[in-house]
Amino acid sequence: MSETPSASHFAAHGSAPVAGYPLILETTGWKDYKLLDMGEGQKLERYGRFTIVRPEPQAMGSRRLKPAQWERADAVFSGDTDEEGPGRWKFSGNVPETWEMAYGPARYHGRFMSFRHVGVFPEQAAHWNWVNGKIRAERKRAPDKPIKILNLFGYTGLASLLPASEGAQVTHIDASKKAITYARENQTLSGLDDLPIRWICEDASKFVAREVRRGSTYDGIILDPPKYGRGPKGEVWDIYESLPGMLSDLQKLLAKDALFMILTAYAIRSSFLAMHELMAETLSHQGGRLESGELVIREDVGQRALSTSLFSRWSSR
Ligand SMILES: C[S@@+](CC[C@H](N)C(=O)[O-])C[C@H]1O[C@@H](n2cnc3c(N)ncnc32)[C@H](O)[C@@H]1O
Repeated sequence: MSETPSASHFAAHGSAPVAGYPLILETTGWKDYKLLDMGEGQKLERYGRFTIVRPEPQAMGSRRLKPAQWERADAVFSGDTDEEGPGRWKFSGNVPETWEMAYGPARYHGRFMSFRHVGVFPEQAAHWNWVNGKIRAERKRAPDKPIKILNLFGYTGLASLLPASEGAQVTHIDASKKAITYARENQTLSGLDDLPIRWICEDASKFVAREVRRGSTYDGIILDPPKYGRGPKGEVWDIYESLPGMLSDLQKLLAKDALFMILTAYAIRSSFLAMHELMAETLSHQGGRLESGELVIREDVGQRALSTSLFSRWSSR
C-alpha cells in the first residue's frame, strides 16, 4: 500500500485542520484477496479459493488474461450494475454457502450476497491499517487509557474486529439484523469473542442523536454509509440529505483528545472534494490534519488502478 499526496495546502484558520489532498490509498491485495484482471465492464477477483466475476462500470479498458481464465470463474454476478439494483449470481460447480478468509487476526466468511456483495470490501484494508496504527501509537503513549471506537454502518464487522484486536472498545452499529449476525459470526470465527465489542442493530442517525443527548464521547469514529439505506424501523438514510446532520452530531461525539474520524462513500455522484469540504466545515475547530481522496485497488496482472470509493479522514496528530 502506498500513500501519495501530490498536493497539500495549509488551511487559512489557525484551528482548522491542515488539508492534504488528493490522497490515493492503494490496496494491492493479500493472501485471501486479489484483483486479478478487469476490462469490458467487469472485474475478475479472487476471494480466498474462489474466483468471482462482477460488473464494474469503471473497468473500461481491455482484459489482460485469456478468455478461458475468465470462463473458469467459480461465480459470476450479472444484471443491473446499480448498487441497489437487482441481479443474480450464477455458479459453475459446487460453491459453499460460506467460506473462510483472514486478514491479520480477523477471520471472516465470504458469502454470495444480494447487490453483488461478498461480505467484505477489500479496499477498506487501507483504513483498517491506518486505524490500527493510530490505536497502537495511542496505547504506547497512554497504555492505561481506554480507547473507544464507534463504527457506523459496520456491515460484517471487519472494521470493528481489527481495532478491537488492537485493544480498543468498539461500538458497532448496523440497521440489518443479518449483517449483525454475520459480524458476530466473524467475531467467533476469529476466536475474538472475549473482546469488548457492542453489536447494536439500530438506525445510525438515531443512535448518534441519542449518544449526543447522553453526552457520550469516542476517540475514533468510522462511517461507511451507503448512498441510500433504511433503518430497522424504516428510517430513511439518504447520503445527500442525511450526511451533513450526521457529521455535525458526530463532531459532538469526538472526545476532547480524539484520535480520528474516517468517512468513506461509494457510488455517489460527487467528488472527494465534496466529502473533504463537508468534513472541513464540520471539523473547522479541531486542528489536526484532514486528508481526502480515493480508495483504489491495484490490479495483479496489468498493475492498473481501480478506483472504488471516495474518502475523507481526519486525525488529531
Ligand atoms: C454495505 S455497508 C457499506 C458499504 C458501502 N459503503 C456501500 O455503499 O455498499 C452499508 C451498511 O449500512 C447498513 N445501513 C443501511 N442503512 C442504515 C441505517 N439507516 N442505519 C444503520 N445502518 C444502515 C446496511 O445494513 C449495510 O450493512
